[in-house]
Amino acid sequence: MTQVSWSPQSWRLRPAAQQPPWPDDDLLERALKELCALPPLVFAGEARSLTRALGEVAEGRAFLLQAGDCAESFAELSADTIRDKLKIILQMAVVLTYGAGVPVVKVGRMAGQFAKPRTSATELVGEVQLDSFRGHMVNDDAPNPQARVPDPSRLVAAYHQSASTLNLLRAFTKGGFADLSQVHIWNQQFVASSDEGRRYEQIAAEIDRALHFMEACGIELSSEHSLHQVDFYTSHEALILGYEEALTRRDSLTGDFYDCSAHMLWVGERTRQITGAHVEFLAGIKNPLGCKLGPSVTPEEVIEICERLDPDRVPGRLTLISRMGTDRVTDALPPLLETVRDSGHLVTWACDPMHGNTFVSNGGRKTRRFDDILGELRGFFEAHRQAGTWPGGVHVELTGDDVTECLGGFGDIAEEQLHERYTTTCDPRLNARQSIDLAFRIAELLRG
Ligand code: TRP
Ligand code: MN
Repeated sequence: MTQVSWSPQSWRLRPAAQQPPWPDDDLLERALKELCALPPLVFAGEARSLTRALGEVAEGRAFLLQAGDCAESFAELSADTIRDKLKIILQMAVVLTYGAGVPVVKVGRMAGQFAKPRTSATELVGEVQLDSFRGHMVNDDAPNPQARVPDPSRLVAAYHQSASTLNLLRAFTKGGFADLSQVHIWNQQFVASSDEGRRYEQIAAEIDRALHFMEACGIELSSEHSLHQVDFYTSHEALILGYEEALTRRDSLTGDFYDCSAHMLWVGERTRQITGAHVEFLAGIKNPLGCKLGPSVTPEEVIEICERLDPDRVPGRLTLISRMGTDRVTDALPPLLETVRDSGHLVTWACDPMHGNTFVSNGGRKTRRFDDILGELRGFFEAHRQAGTWPGGVHVELTGDDVTECLGGFGDIAEEQLHERYTTTCDPRLNARQSIDLAFRIAELLRG
């Protein structure tokens, strides 16, 4: 391949996996043109702050909590859904910050997570074979052939839904809702009445007491901004490259290119080919990046990825997100940790304990066992302890709702119960109680 210099379009000269078969090129062009003219969703300076924060994680001084839906839904754009998801993430962050005593970098799989890579171009829904659902940025999940036709106007709709979501997230995280004095309010009713909810209440009460203590000591808390707000960042898989290209802008301050669709972008296990279009695109933008790594990746490939995506060796630039499965993590992860450690690349390591542990239940629903999720996390922490590297964070799929999609946990959801409240448009997510339970377990693992 002839080497051309990077531009937001240079990915177009490479093979691009997982791009939808758009039926009408003119409509696609029109949608992308419209996106090019719209304002950026995030600012370059914010992406740089996240790189700095992730640099702290890479150096072992902070922990990354990256969480949100598998696939956000166009049908679920409401203040309540966004608020409830944020509540859970804030609760998990409190449990981790208080329980393990490390700063937590909070990144949502939110405000842009609308595209899904699919293993197969078609899927069986009930009795009918349909084109696969590819996320609401591309087509609709309704079980009929018309709904599955890719529609470029959805790219523009995804932008607008991201903008609304981000606007509310900014309001919530900077406008008082995330104030530590609100720590009790994030505990939703159905969580508060459970064992893990009560455990959370204990921490919340201790935080209250600590704040009162500081006040009584004469510390002026109202002027301590960090108590009253959080830095909350957005991220999604950079899958539909036309969309990402259209939102890529040159920063007037530094002259660098940033993909302004989110603060952090990641490349998936199915699109991380070193000569492919996705890696080409990500290599040229300055945002902090993620790369998912499944059990088949070799240490040599991981080094190639590090050199391609983090040639300048900037701590915080690259987060490697392992998703091995509970059965594979103990043999597949250690060689990668050692090789990267010895290469001198200071990456952030995060564990996605969800995607390697998915299976289809007897009733035909995709699910995950809480115990497998926990098992992979244990393997991840153990592998890092052995390699002398920092287990930097977790990447989880969750919802603030009381769904029944993953098996087990404190509520001990059984296979027969999956159908009760199974609402995901893609992968099974942890519900609010399971998420808090998980945060307590992670805090324990972090304390060692
Ligand atoms: N700003 C600090 C932080 O983000 C403290 C904080 C304020 C906080 N509100 C929070 C921590 C909510 C966790 C959850 O860590
Ligand atoms: Mn998923």
